[in-house]
Amino acid sequence: MVTILRGNIIHTPSFGKLETVPHGYLVLEDGVVAGLFEQLPDRYAACPVEDFGEKLILPSFADLHLHAPQYPMLGMGMDLPLLEWLNAYTFKTEARFADTDYARRVYRSLAAELIAGGTTRVSMFSSRHTDATLILMEELERAGVTGYVGKVNMDRNSGVAQETTEESIRETLRWLEGCRFEHVKPILTPRFTPSCSDALMAELGRLAAERDLPVQSHLSETTGEVAWVKELHPECGQYWETYAQYGLWKPGTLMAHCVYSDERERSAMAEAGVWAIHCAASNVNICSGAAPVRRMLEEGLSVALGSDIAGGDQLAMSQVVVTSIQTSKNMAMETGEPFLTVPEAFYLGTAAGSRYFGGGEGFAPGHPLHAMVVDESAFPEPARELTLAERFERAVYLMDKSSIAAVYSEGRRVK
Ligand code: GUN
Ligand code: FE
Repeated sequence: MVTILRGNIIHTPSFGKLETVPHGYLVLEDGVVAGLFEQLPDRYAACPVEDFGEKLILPSFADLHLHAPQYPMLGMGMDLPLLEWLNAYTFKTEARFADTDYARRVYRSLAAELIAGGTTRVSMFSSRHTDATLILMEELERAGVTGYVGKVNMDRNSGVAQETTEESIRETLRWLEGCRFEHVKPILTPRFTPSCSDALMAELGRLAAERDLPVQSHLSETTGEVAWVKELHPECGQYWETYAQYGLWKPGTLMAHCVYSDERERSAMAEAGVWAIHCAASNVNICSGAAPVRRMLEEGLSVALGSDIAGGDQLAMSQVVVTSIQTSKNMAMETGEPFLTVPEAFYLGTAAGSRYFGGGEGFAPGHPLHAMVVDESAFPEPARELTLAERFERAVYLMDKSSIAAVYSEGRRVK
């Protein structure tokens, strides 16, 4: 079946490149992008057109690092450093997800909020609870959010949220058995090295290899954490080796933060095909530090963005893109390195995550459509007529869920 969207089409087909098609046509065949056209080709003349008029058609967002059970604590505990914040707020909040009714309520509203804000792809941490994790996956699938979700593993240093090693392994297997969703798939999720024993890490590495499962975790987020990992693992020269020694460091492994990853750790990432997930808002909120994103990209690392709620205070990826630009400018003012431009940061918040999941960059033909339609009518009236590139920039800064008129995920309209 052919579907045609008409509007001002704007996308970033590669890092740093912005392409606009004014009053263009985005043609879908069975939900898959067939092409972008300035004039509708004759062969589609008889097909129905969804006309979005003056609105902007943009690729939707991918949030490659966030904690679903921390949604209820958005905006809380922001004056504590990471390790204190985890103990004072996070583990207690996550422990609530033993209650499946509570999980259903929170996760249903989280899934709806993601779609409302134009996020159609995620890689998400759940809590340690198997049943709540399956509920989360079900709610995401129902809402139209695609990607990965992980039951979190944490058998040491985790307070009220801790599980035993045996329980962690058994529940991981039970969770994997329950994963039967079309668009939401499992990802192994050792929380971070300080919360996983060697025995647990070894078992997760074995499972990752045996079942060809992807892996996500945290890496070199704060100085206190890096020092702690050194103490826990004197046998490892660097933090990343605590994952590598158990087979968790492999192509497609997602590592959040990497603020204190030095050149050697970064080159280990580039070599293995491990992705760095930049969480700009979280890094500021819990005073973790500033990740050298420009340098990572120049060194050939794959980088995408994450909201990292609730270390991050904004679920809306449009805001995460803006914060990434602003933190990059703060860094540029110190180092003199170039900052992330709006099209570059937008690429990292959309196309990079799409590429991670095997999708296209921008509206590349041959891939199911992930898109959002932005209505600028509530923005201030501009003093002159704006170019599409200017309207794009303004939309990135000003959009919120009320200006997102439609969302498409995996080729189908979900808002
Ligand atoms: N490191 C281990 N757990 C967490 C978490 O929940 N949030 C952040 N930001 N870092 C972590
Ligand atoms: Fe995190």
